[in-house]
Amino acid sequence: MDHFFRRKRAGLVKSLLSLSLIFASVLMILKLRLSEKEEVGTQHARDASWCGPDCFPSIDAPVKSNFWKLNAAAPGNREDSQRAPNGTPASWDAQVLNCSEDESVKSQDWFRRLDPRFHQFVLHRHCRYFPMLINHPEKCADGEAHLLMVIKSVIEQHDRRDAVRKTWGEELTVDGKKIRTLFLLGTPTTGKDTKNLQKLIEYEDQIYRDILQWDFMDTFFNLTLKEVNFLKWFNIYCPGVQFIFKGDDDVFVNPRNLLELVGFKVEERKDADLFVGDTIAKAVPIRNRQSKYYIPKELYDKPYPPYAGGGGFLMSSQLARRLFAASEDVELYPIDDVFLGMCLKRLNVAPEMHSGFRTFGITRLKVSALNREPCFYKSLIVVHKLSAQELLRMWSIVHSKDLVCAQRTSL
Ligand SMILES: *[C@@H]1O[C@H](CO)[C@@H](O)[C@H](O)[C@H]1NC(C)=O
Ligand SMILES: *[C@@H]1O[C@H](CO)[C@@H](O)[C@H](O)[C@H]1NC(C)=O
Repeated sequence: MDHFFRRKRAGLVKSLLSLSLIFASVLMILKLRLSEKEEVGTQHARDASWCGPDCFPSIDAPVKSNFWKLNAAAPGNREDSQRAPNGTPASWDAQVLNCSEDESVKSQDWFRRLDPRFHQFVLHRHCRYFPMLINHPEKCADGEAHLLMVIKSVIEQHDRRDAVRKTWGEELTVDGKKIRTLFLLGTPTTGKDTKNLQKLIEYEDQIYRDILQWDFMDTFFNLTLKEVNFLKWFNIYCPGVQFIFKGDDDVFVNPRNLLELVGFKVEERKDADLFVGDTIAKAVPIRNRQSKYYIPKELYDKPYPPYAGGGGFLMSSQLARRLFAASEDVELYPIDDVFLGMCLKRLNVAPEMHSGFRTFGITRLKVSALNREPCFYKSLIVVHKLSAQELLRMWSIVHSKDLVCAQRTSL
């Protein structure tokens, strides 16, 4: 059953600031000083000037315990009065900064038996939407973006974001189709140099304007919060975007092939329910306690619904909107791509398998030389997983005129 368990290794950070980050930050600060005067329109949510009282309603209103659920708002409260006729709020409306523990689960039997690694997750499971620290309401406001590249990252992975910006995340127009890029971030985990990391990410964002940051800790079990907060964000700020590519910051993406696939789907009129990736149909929860993806029986005791590996998948904006609505009725799950599978199941949509998405690597053998073969990269859509340096190198080889591949390479 090994293939059930092949999983991405999300890049959890093992060390504090790398030297390269410090160096990069010095460069960034210098760059920033130069560009400070031209700076316009950066949207930092904590800086009340961009949205005024919409973002910071008076705190005397009682905080409801189910505040986090968008659809739990009682009629007539002030959130509703800011809502567009279709029920979508006009701007980000999650304001509660303090997610307190759910005391009611503590006394339950299954919680006492539960592996302590999951206590934190279960105690905070009810908190779904978090305030934004860095927002970009203007990102797709012009309605011209065709494809939105949405990339999960953490503050410390500055070099990966840089490599992505220089390669597949570059905001280009390809054959008349505009590509826009956003990175999704939380806050540093406990023990990190929070203040300085936060300063750095704000500088970085002032230069590139491509970061969305929410006020929740960027831990592995909190990855699902990135899904739900992004879906809500997209629903509010991106009415005109047609497709979303969502992936990790350590993958190789071939945007031309991705856009070609989008073109085929539009031609076939299969774009409404589009959700395509490296799909796993019959996975079961991993019970090996050593695994990063270990899930105890107390938490989940069924086979997983079909889901696409979170390293990279493509979906239509129509489906993203329906997924957002469906996600609000699904309890948070500690593995983000499985969680999306659960939401898709609610919609009766089966994620489509496409062999161009290799989120578990080109071959299952990690040591295989094929994993370094540029012609595969040229013919595929997404390949997991590359360091920042490997990505830059592979990108330049794949795009060099000297690369000769025998027609389309296939495995
Ligand atoms: C968060 O809320 C809990 C209980 O509601 C309280 O005990 C705790 O002190 C609060 N923490 C902060 C940082 O406000
Ligand atoms: C997720 O983030 C919230 C807010 O920062 C935090 O209270 C919670 O402990 C985190 N959960 C996990 C499992 O790390």
